Amino acid sequence: MDGKVSGDHKVVIVGLQWGDEGKGKIIDILAPGFDLVVRYQGGPNAGHTVHRGDRKIIFHQLPSGVLHPEVQNLIASGCVVDPRRLFEELEALKGIGIDTRDRVWVSKFAHVILPHHIAIDGMREDGKAKPLGTTRRGVGMCYEDKFARIGIRIGDLIAEDTDRLRYLISHKNFLLIELYGGEPLDDRRILKEYMEFGRRLRPLAVSDPYFLKGFQNRRILFESAQGTLLDISFGTYPYVTSSHPIVGGIGASIGMIPNRLLKIGIVKAYTTRVGLGPFPTEIEGELGEILRKKGNEYGSTTGRPRRIGWLDIPALRFAAIINGIDAIILTKLDVLSGLKEIKIGTGYQTDSGPTEEFDPTRDDLVPEYRSLPGWEGEIAGVKGFDQLPREAQEYVAMVEDLIGVRIVGISVGPEPDQMIWRERLI
Ligand code: GDP
Ligand code: IMO
Ligand code: MG
Repeated sequence: MDGKVSGDHKVVIVGLQWGDEGKGKIIDILAPGFDLVVRYQGGPNAGHTVHRGDRKIIFHQLPSGVLHPEVQNLIASGCVVDPRRLFEELEALKGIGIDTRDRVWVSKFAHVILPHHIAIDGMREDGKAKPLGTTRRGVGMCYEDKFARIGIRIGDLIAEDTDRLRYLISHKNFLLIELYGGEPLDDRRILKEYMEFGRRLRPLAVSDPYFLKGFQNRRILFESAQGTLLDISFGTYPYVTSSHPIVGGIGASIGMIPNRLLKIGIVKAYTTRVGLGPFPTEIEGELGEILRKKGNEYGSTTGRPRRIGWLDIPALRFAAIINGIDAIILTKLDVLSGLKEIKIGTGYQTDSGPTEEFDPTRDDLVPEYRSLPGWEGEIAGVKGFDQLPREAQEYVAMVEDLIGVRIVGISVGPEPDQMIWRERLI
């Protein structure tokens, strides 16, 4: 496997944990084998990291295939867009000599994040007895307005629909003052600024169905943001994001369901979670801190320290089932090097007895572990599975066996070439 695919294949990359599994790196590696990368949900709450030489580039809005000049990129209707951040990202790429003209497209149906959404996201978090630990990017608030049917789409900005935008701004200002005790935001300035964004967005805006018709017999890579356990329906609600990172999110985002779709799950070799909510296999104390430092586990969007834990097999099986996962790519195996013992959560004790079923509606799952020996020495330069220390091979084999899905690739460092491929994907 080298990222090359043939024919009209469609592939989706989906996180099977609580996000930050390393999706950005894998999409960047695979993208050259595709004609188009489609980000199908989420917004600037995402932070997808790609390494290029000495540079570390973090994509929040843009699809992670955008560094490859021959690849087209679509931000599809299921996404929410903060135009300011989108243009900042495009400008930053221009600044390092990457031309995105005629290959970055935004759905007319994607909803627009306003400064009010961001302000209210923060105020709600600050005011709540039980905050969620959101990224404070206004993403949840924007999806709320979409489903309340008062939101503003990219297409509305382009059509200069000032009436609906005026209404939304005044509605949000009312909430800011009356409900949150804050200051209203300057409606005239925002109206002017967003109309200007509309003019700049016009050349990028497309209607998903007509745009995608042109890619019917071509190769498409679908990129999810966040992770399955943050899904609005199947995640650890209410500690979730406001969209569908699961593979099923593709249908709601682009309308159709690709008839042949290879579903690849990304799994970090341990677990992280940024934000609040249940985390059965969380590691407290010094070991968590050691792994956080070694894995550089600080939020790509907010810089917050990520919570660290062991793999949670029932949760991964749950995620594999929901998404119909065909193959797994395991990331950050190098971070576990040097540990004496590595644990794997294989089931839970609950008030009603032992179970191997992950249940995101419960917060009383106490994990049961299997323990494996660790390995000495760094593995970041290893290129072949057989060259990994025996204990590392055994860890991978055990994880594969317990989840019941083949592990086709192993990432052993942040750089694109720090990969071990075991199988060709297609
Ligand atoms: P995403 O949101 O799923 O794209 O993941 P993030 O980019 O938020 O977080 C993953 C982090 O781990 C980034 O800093 C990557 O550069 C880094 N990374 C990805 N794969 C590996 C790996 O195999 N080993 C190490 N050490 N770092 C990795
Ligand atoms: P990527 O795509 C990890 C988490 C937040 C919070 C919850 C709700 O980089 O994997 P939101 O701002 O979406 O309303 O916050 O979801 N969260 C993420 N955690 N990676 C992400 O994206 C995340 N995007 C949101 O921390 O717990
Ligand atoms: Mg991330």
